[in-house]
Amino acid sequence: MEKFRKTNQANEITGVLCSGEGVFLQVLEGERSAVNKLYVDICKDQRHTDIELLHFEEVTERVFYAWSMDHIPVSTLYAMIKIQNPEFDPYLSSGKIALNCVIDYLRLNDEPK
Ligand SMILES: Cc1cc2nc3c(=O)[nH]c(=O)nc-3n(C[C@H](O)[C@H](O)[C@H](O)COP(=O)(O)O)c2cc1C
Repeated sequence: MEKFRKTNQANEITGVLCSGEGVFLQVLEGERSAVNKLYVDICKDQRHTDIELLHFEEVTERVFYAWSMDHIPVSTLYAMIKIQNPEFDPYLSSGKIALNCVIDYLRLNDEPK
């Protein structure tokens, strides 16, 4: 995680990595070619399988600027989401909804780093 943080900082990539319950949910944000390159590297990484791109969008401003690849346990994230939306299923929900859940979680629970 610390290594990712340093590499991401050097490449001006921000975001967040949620993990637990056998899954990773990651948001990457930055210059398009840098994000694409990292995404390709992550896809090649043998430490995980079944990688899916949930959502991609061009943004004019960073949302995760203040959070330099923070880490959230997936169980905590799900617990918060379930209170607001008991029907939430990470495998069925749209990527945009998952992204908004992560943003809400950070706004409520985390100090920017
Ligand atoms: C779930 C997951 C998330 C990752 N996130 C990042 C990341 O945010 N930044 C990063 O530099 N590497 C990340 N990595 C590691 C990359 O997959 C890869 O090992 C790294 O970019 C080095 O690639 P290279 O050895 O081809 O240079 C992640 C790996 C996994 C399994």
